[in-house]
Amino acid sequence: MCGIIGIVSTAPVADRLLEGLRRMEYRGYDSAGVCTLHDGALVRRRAEGKLANLAAELARNPAPGTVGIAHTRWATHGAPTTSNAHPHATGEVALVHNGIIENYKPLREELLAEGRTLESETDSEVVAHLVSREVEDGASPEAAVAAVLPRLRGAFALAIAFRAHPGLLIGARLGSPLVVGYADGEMFLGSDALALAGLTQRIAYLEEGDWVVVTREGAEIRDAEGAAVERPVTTSGASAAAVEKGNYRHYMQKEIFEQPTVVAQTLSSYLRPAEGRVALPQFDFDLSAIRRVTIVACGTSFYAGMVAKYWFEQFARVPVDLDVASEFRYREPVLEEGGLALFISQSGETADTLAALRHCKAAGQTIAVVVNVPTSSMAREADLLLPTHAGPEIGVASTKAFTCQLAVLAALAAHLAVAKGRLSREEEAEIVRHLLEAPAALNAALDHDEDIEAMAPLVAGARDVLYLGRGADYPLALEGALKLKEISYIHAEGYASGEMKHGPIALIDEHVPVIVLAPSGPLFEKTVSNMEEVRARGGRVVLISDEDGLAEAGAGCLATIAMPRVHPLIAPLVYAVPVQLLAYHVACVKGTDVDQPRNLAKSVTVE
Ligand code: F6R
Repeated sequence: MCGIIGIVSTAPVADRLLEGLRRMEYRGYDSAGVCTLHDGALVRRRAEGKLANLAAELARNPAPGTVGIAHTRWATHGAPTTSNAHPHATGEVALVHNGIIENYKPLREELLAEGRTLESETDSEVVAHLVSREVEDGASPEAAVAAVLPRLRGAFALAIAFRAHPGLLIGARLGSPLVVGYADGEMFLGSDALALAGLTQRIAYLEEGDWVVVTREGAEIRDAEGAAVERPVTTSGASAAAVEKGNYRHYMQKEIFEQPTVVAQTLSSYLRPAEGRVALPQFDFDLSAIRRVTIVACGTSFYAGMVAKYWFEQFARVPVDLDVASEFRYREPVLEEGGLALFISQSGETADTLAALRHCKAAGQTIAVVVNVPTSSMAREADLLLPTHAGPEIGVASTKAFTCQLAVLAALAAHLAVAKGRLSREEEAEIVRHLLEAPAALNAALDHDEDIEAMAPLVAGARDVLYLGRGADYPLALEGALKLKEISYIHAEGYASGEMKHGPIALIDEHVPVIVLAPSGPLFEKTVSNMEEVRARGGRVVLISDEDGLAEAGAGCLATIAMPRVHPLIAPLVYAVPVQLLAYHVACVKGTDVDQPRNLAKSVTVE
């Protein structure tokens, strides 16, 4: 998703703006630009494609100046061309924007009717012109912004520079995050604390509707009504080191290998091993009164929710409705009184999930949020905040956030089951014991990295791939297919093993590898039967199972991937590793851009 950075300083800013854009590359983008203030003029440099193109443009045509704004753009309105790249500028004003201005069409028509020339196809450019028009009519920057913000519908984070006022920037947020960074003698604006890592760790998070005037001396924040407000300045844990790859080739690879540590970190705040108990953070409602759970999320987080549905129903015997957020919002869901609405998100900013959360809140549901960014919008709007402690996830394809979500969801399911009187103390202690086994089991799964790397070429040549799984491993089949699609651009589908013969089996031939996730256990025999149906039709199977499973059904497979033998509760966490590694190594064989796959953004803050 688009990234914003702004600096008001006494030292040149272009290099640091570019560095800030590099830290935000992980969000996904397809063009970039910088605008500085120098000698009474706006100096703008833009380029389509990767940041290297912008760096080359800046090398040819430097952008001097001690105040400036910069942007990475993930195209929504208009192709990723240089003329659509931000900053957008008039003679007086330059502006960068993250989000979507939903009413840009009438605003654009209004501007065109006045004879103004707009040079891009974007929704954002209209905002630059609206602010500019006020300034040209004699308004101060503050008055101009105050006049324009109420006219905008949709979602935005903005950073605006003014040619005639070289000592300030104005930022504003509604629906898209924006932070203010504080340092001695210089100040910053950024999409998130990570954007400013390396510049400052003193961060204030703007609230919905806030806007801010930033000068070298400090920041004056106003709320949507224009009243001066204070927002606490906190010390951000985001460090430049957190966004380094270390000895790994890709962020995704680093994050896959971090999983034993971050899952242990996450579990440590939900489990009390000595007592064999699950503990949740403080909350202020009666969990035992929950009669129904509605889980809403997108993408990989949705698949974590799918696994959780199995657990909530199995342990707590509470019915669960599950939806992808983009569908939930518009299907007029029936929300019973006394329901718990549970939202799962790495970023905490995904626009559809956030809108679904607000819908549920307005409908009187209790809001629980499993989220990796504790300062995110979702975190701040939760009645029950359940943080994952995965640390910053930079690779666009989600990996460690997923396994940490599963860890939290398993703890929540157990806690809910205890609260509902469905789980005895002994059973709770048993669950705690199995969850505590997860970090070591994840390590054991990672030990098979080289085997998976060695068999990746068998999959890399395929045009289509099928993933099969049963029970709580079915969502893992979906997740495996999503990972492969995302980073290796191979068409892949995940199916419930038993569903195979109801259609997809027609696809089977020797060119379509079928990846079967089948830990030994109660459902193993059934999955193996489905696997035999594939093999009987000439299909080639990659079986991912444990020693017992491979001994029973591994013969005659195209390849096998050995996993440690684990309790079914933690199998979804452990089997996430081989599907992540397989997608990763296949992408490496194909030479795709693993950390920034084409067309994808890390956090989808538009509908
Ligand atoms: C897949 C992936 C996406 C995200 C989805 C939700 O690898 O990363 O499918 O899971 O965009 O994002 P969050 O969890 O931030 O709400």
